[in-house]
Amino acid sequence: MAKIKDGATEATDPEKVSEAQIAVHWREEGYYFPSAKFIGQANVSDPSIFDRFSEKNFPECFKEYGDLLSWDQYWHTTLDTSNAPFWKWFVGGRLNASYNCVDRHLATDRNKAAIIFVPELEDDETEVITYQELYARVNEFAALLEGFCDVKTGEVATFHMPMVPELPVAMLACARLGVIHSQVFGGFSGAACGGRIADSKSKVLVTIDGYYRGGVLQDHKVKADEAVARALEEGVVVEKVLVFRRNPGEYASNSPMVPGRDFFVDEIMPPYKGKLVDPVSMPAEAPLFIMYSSGTTGKPKGCQHSTGGYLSYVTGTSKYYQDIHPEDTYWCAADIGWITGHSYIVYGPLSLGTTTVMYEGIPTYPDAGRAWRIAERLGVTHFHTAPTTIRTLRKVGPDEPKKYNYHFRHMTTVGEPIEPDVWRWYYDVVGKGEAVIVDTWWQTENGGFLGSGLPALNPMKPGSCGPAVIGIFPKILDENGEEVVAGSGMAGNICIRNPWPGIFQTIWGDPDRFVKTYYEKYNTDKNSKDWHDWPYFANDGAMQASDGYYRILGRVDDVINVSGHRLGTKELESAAIMVDGVAEAAAVPVVDDVRGHAVEMYIALKPGVSPDQGIEQQVSSMIEKEIGKVARPKNVWIVADMPKTRSGKIMRRVIASISNFTDVGDITTLANPEVVEDIRHYVQSDKVASGDQPRELTAAELAAILAFGSSE
Ligand code: WTA
Repeated sequence: MAKIKDGATEATDPEKVSEAQIAVHWREEGYYFPSAKFIGQANVSDPSIFDRFSEKNFPECFKEYGDLLSWDQYWHTTLDTSNAPFWKWFVGGRLNASYNCVDRHLATDRNKAAIIFVPELEDDETEVITYQELYARVNEFAALLEGFCDVKTGEVATFHMPMVPELPVAMLACARLGVIHSQVFGGFSGAACGGRIADSKSKVLVTIDGYYRGGVLQDHKVKADEAVARALEEGVVVEKVLVFRRNPGEYASNSPMVPGRDFFVDEIMPPYKGKLVDPVSMPAEAPLFIMYSSGTTGKPKGCQHSTGGYLSYVTGTSKYYQDIHPEDTYWCAADIGWITGHSYIVYGPLSLGTTTVMYEGIPTYPDAGRAWRIAERLGVTHFHTAPTTIRTLRKVGPDEPKKYNYHFRHMTTVGEPIEPDVWRWYYDVVGKGEAVIVDTWWQTENGGFLGSGLPALNPMKPGSCGPAVIGIFPKILDENGEEVVAGSGMAGNICIRNPWPGIFQTIWGDPDRFVKTYYEKYNTDKNSKDWHDWPYFANDGAMQASDGYYRILGRVDDVINVSGHRLGTKELESAAIMVDGVAEAAAVPVVDDVRGHAVEMYIALKPGVSPDQGIEQQVSSMIEKEIGKVARPKNVWIVADMPKTRSGKIMRRVIASISNFTDVGDITTLANPEVVEDIRHYVQSDKVASGDQPRELTAAELAAILAFGSSE
């Protein structure tokens, strides 16, 4: 039985520990306040904003965000709910996202840095791309996409790019043409990319020969070949693969260029050099991009984001919550392959005309001081990263920040709950006690922040994302739709009662799944055109303290969050089952001090197949091939039988408890309760023997494990 730390008392009856009871025992952290200096310069320091964005002013309050953009044509209807829950924002408006992020800054800021690219090799030159240069590159690449690839407005182009400046250039080029981009995280495998190409029916893949990671030039082009092959298996032909070169004149890959299909961008670019392409005036409702997100069941969901609503929302939240001023040097160390990078490296900061920093590699390469040297050298004012990175930075160099003369004004944490202890190190050591921190809770589906304090107006509370952001009205509901009251100490499902401009429009090609996954649970009348009847079910567990601040517990469904990467259990299991001899597979999270969670796989073999090391290895490799290195399991356990419900569902909650040395809870309803003790003995004695000793889980960790698989 795991003990509950963090000032919590142990529950009296361990058999009945529930998520809610654990929540009761959470210690309330004290507030931290922003400095007068910060408040004095903040974009928002007048509390009248809360009234402007109060429910009585919804939805017109979002005009304030829309007005941050340059429109070709102003909208006539701020929110159209006639096809609920497919909300339409700023209807009648027309604009171009590339114009808003690039062209409109030229008059005043032509020669200001738009993007500063820091290559991973420290001796390589930092590349500064001014707004004028960005304008030239975006136009040229748009001309090439149009002229050479014949992609048309409304079609999808897939990118499988690492953190190089060619990625935002390509995104903005698509936006210029009204072509929908779909960037797949560069660390994902070729097969994972191929599945996403097929789903979106892209005929163009934009990639690069290689990139640096951990000091090594990775062969990336090889993944393009796998991607194209996989897409073809699923019936989609990729006509052209555009290959950038990481180092001009060289080729970083061993994979041959396929004649007629693969083209080096530098070789086909000359006719388009210096060409200008008029930004296409797009309806506010036109899709800007798709971003795939792993889900509970089946294949990843292509979250489709709009042009006007999305861009307004990320611009507004970048200004108010990130407190970006045009003269700042803003470094978000996320990957553009994730939604955070789309919204808060590319679209938000560039729309506001600030300088955004992109870093190619691992923040601790070649040593623990790298990130802080970058901050010092570039005069970074804002630092934005995830708890997993903060934990790593603390682990490898707890005192490193002190050695460097940088001063952040503002810092962000995003992607998973942050432990108060880690938060305090971030605040004291990284932020030197000078920077405010916003803990921003949101999802790929949301476009921008849902939960966060306004940095000059809401004090910080470690481990809590703060209140809902302005214009967002959440409520926490239990399984029966009853509201869980703030301050009750109970947790439930966090929902957003209202639509907002950044909400995704649909799941690409699967509107039924969109409604089913996010709206069906708490909708009472499926014919209603009134937004009040359509709470958005975020699929996250949360509790609200009496001060209105939210504490997010994590997914209530079966997504494993490894270093802030969402991995669907179904994707992991599907990959494992591709190995010959594997009959059944179950993926569970195991608490990991650096990555938050790591993946453990449980495998049952087909009759007559003998368990051996080979199979464990093959399962690991298959997962790496199908999904990517980040998903590689910490352990693969071969078991005789999986614990199952009477209806035949694998009880992941039970094996997750075994992997984490927590109590397995009530197993009397299982069809085969007798297998649980065998599995527990086998797995735990192996772990103990190999020195994988469990430490006490914190209350939040325990809650996350207990909540895992609870949707079954
Ligand atoms: C989790 C990332 C606690 C949550 C922007 C959510 C968080 C999932 C936080 C979305 C936070 C994100 N505190 N948990 N500040 N931010 N999460 O789609 O479970 O990659 O549902 O979007 O990460 O992950 P995604």
